[in-house]
Amino acid sequence: MKRKQRLGVNVDHVATIRNARSGTYPDPVRAAQLAAAAGADGITAHLREDRRHIRDDDIRRISEEVEKPLNFEMAATEEMLQIALRHKPHAACIVPEKREEQTTEGGLDAVGGHNHLQPFVRQMSDAGIRVSLFIEPDPAQLDAAVALGAPVVELHTGTYAELEGDSQDVEFARIEAAAAHAEAIGLECHAGHGLTYDNVAPIAAIKNVVELNIGHFLIGEAIFSGLDGAIRRMRSLMDKARADVEGARSA
Ligand code: PXP
Repeated sequence: MKRKQRLGVNVDHVATIRNARSGTYPDPVRAAQLAAAAGADGITAHLREDRRHIRDDDIRRISEEVEKPLNFEMAATEEMLQIALRHKPHAACIVPEKREEQTTEGGLDAVGGHNHLQPFVRQMSDAGIRVSLFIEPDPAQLDAAVALGAPVVELHTGTYAELEGDSQDVEFARIEAAAAHAEAIGLECHAGHGLTYDNVAPIAAIKNVVELNIGHFLIGEAIFSGLDGAIRRMRSLMDKARADVEGARSA
């Protein structure tokens, strides 16, 4: 039997709601525990420079209190590097970060940023952290990830999620080709950003994509169906998309 595509649940926006009233609830760590029980394979959390959602103590508590692996999303700054080296999460995903953005806009420039990124990749890898780079589905960026020694890339699906019709098909083809290129050059390939019940299936069906990271939609949907129900439904849409494509291939 083929290994299932992993689902990483991003709990940032539980913290966004908590911080709206500066209190202690809803607790993103409780959400992470619930996500783990509902079938998430890992928990993703982005500690931003401005701490607008996840805070330092959330990272500590997720590391200590949640049994699933933590994927620590971080900007390539000295402060975040020291936090990663202190907690030694299972994985760290380096993302670009601008203070004024609403969410991560676009991928990292692994080509132009080679000299800046290299010490981050090296020091975290030396500490046993699996480093991934959040990049655009662009072969030059993938090649640059290899040059940096990163074992994993996460392809940015935000543009795909925002487009419709033919232009979405074009962006999807870029993601599919990038995932195949990633495997060919020895990278583990993940994908994420902007994924919903409506747009997840084609991405989940790409055989070289071994993990999806999904947050905002799941936390929003949890208002209506509970976090457990939202995660289980996403999980089953991912599994169905994989099963359909494998069935079509073996038919
Ligand atoms: N992957 C990365 C690298 C991200 O920065 C984010 C957003 O924090 C996600 C995945 C999840 O995106 P969304 O919240 O839109 O599902």
